[in-house]
Amino acid sequence: MTSGSKKRILTGIRPTGALHLGHYVGALENWVRLQDEYDCFFLIADYQALGDHLDDIEGIRRSVIDVGLDWLAVGLDPEMSTFVIQSHVPEHAELAMLLSMLTPLGMLERNPTLKAETDQLETRSLSVGFYTYPVSQVADILLPKAHLVPVGEDQLPHIEMTREIVRRFNNRYGELFPEPQSLVGRVARLPGTDGQAKMSKSIGNAIYLSDDEDTVNRKVRGMYTDPTRLRATDPGHLEGNPVFDYHDAFNSDKAEVEELKTRYRAGTVGDVEVKQRLAVALNNFLEPIREKRAYYEEHPDQVREALMEGTRHAKQVAEATMAEVRERMGITYF
Ligand code: TRP
Repeated sequence: MTSGSKKRILTGIRPTGALHLGHYVGALENWVRLQDEYDCFFLIADYQALGDHLDDIEGIRRSVIDVGLDWLAVGLDPEMSTFVIQSHVPEHAELAMLLSMLTPLGMLERNPTLKAETDQLETRSLSVGFYTYPVSQVADILLPKAHLVPVGEDQLPHIEMTREIVRRFNNRYGELFPEPQSLVGRVARLPGTDGQAKMSKSIGNAIYLSDDEDTVNRKVRGMYTDPTRLRATDPGHLEGNPVFDYHDAFNSDKAEVEELKTRYRAGTVGDVEVKQRLAVALNNFLEPIREKRAYYEEHPDQVREALMEGTRHAKQVAEATMAEVRERMGITYF
C-alpha cells in the first residue's frame, strides 16, 4: 500500500455534502496527481464536521459514504493511498487535546479563516469544539508526519498555524515533526453559478461531481453572466463572468474558448451559445467521473473496504506517532 521512502501528504475534507467542481480544481485534482509521488493520507474529517453539524448526524453519515464515492470516482486510489475516517482513529482527538496545551488562544483569535467562519455563526451556537477545530486539524496533519498539505485557498491559515505549532513542539521536545508545506490548486477559488466569489453547498450555487447531464444543462442555462449585456450584439465582458471562468477551468478545447472570448467581446455570439458549449464541455469532463461513481454505487462493499482498510492502516501509523509524542512529552509514568 505504501512505500517507506516517499514523502507524505495528509489532506482532508469535512463530510457535509457531496463534492463539487470547486473542490475539484481547488484541491482534488492535485490529490489525484500527487498519489504516485507521495504516500497520501486522505482524511474524512467527521469529528471536525460535528463542530457545526451536531444536529445533522444523518447528513454526516450519508456524506462519509458520498465523499468516499466521490474520491473513488475522481481517481483517488485506495491501493496506493490511505483513506481515513477521523473518528475511527481516536488518536486524532488525543493529539488535538495535547496540542491545544501548546497553542496560545491568541493564535486562534488571529486566524482569519476561523474569524470569518465564527463571524457568520451566532455566538450562542458557536461551540468550543468548532472554535478549536484548527488545532484538531494540526493534529490530523501531524499524526502521519505529513510534509505537504494540498488544500483549497481558505485553508492556508490553518497550515500556517500547523507550522507554528510544529516549531513550538520541536523546540520544546526535540525534532519530531516536519514543518508541512501547503499547495493550492490551479484555480484557487472557483466562483458559484450565481457569480458569487465562491462555489459553496450552503449558498446553493454549486455544480456537483455527481450531477447528471440534465442537471448540469439546467444549472448552466441559469448561470449568471455579464449583466450589462442586453442583446447578443452588445459587446460582452469576461471579467467577473463565471461562464468564462468555467470555460477556462474545464473546457479542454482551448481554441474554442479563445474563439468564444473574441466573439463575446465583439458582440457576435449570444450567451445562449456560450452556455450551450459550456454545458457540453462540463458534461464531457464529468462523464468519466459519473461512470466510475455509478460502478462504485453498485459495489458498496468496495467503498466500505477502501474506507475500512485505510482507516486500519492510519490507526497503526497514529499509534506509533502517539507513542513518540507521549514519550517526548514525558507522559510515561511506569
Ligand atoms: N478543514 C478542511 C475542510 O474544511 C478539512 C480538513 C480536516 C483538513 N482536517 C484537515 C484539510 C487536515 C487539510 C488537512 O475541508
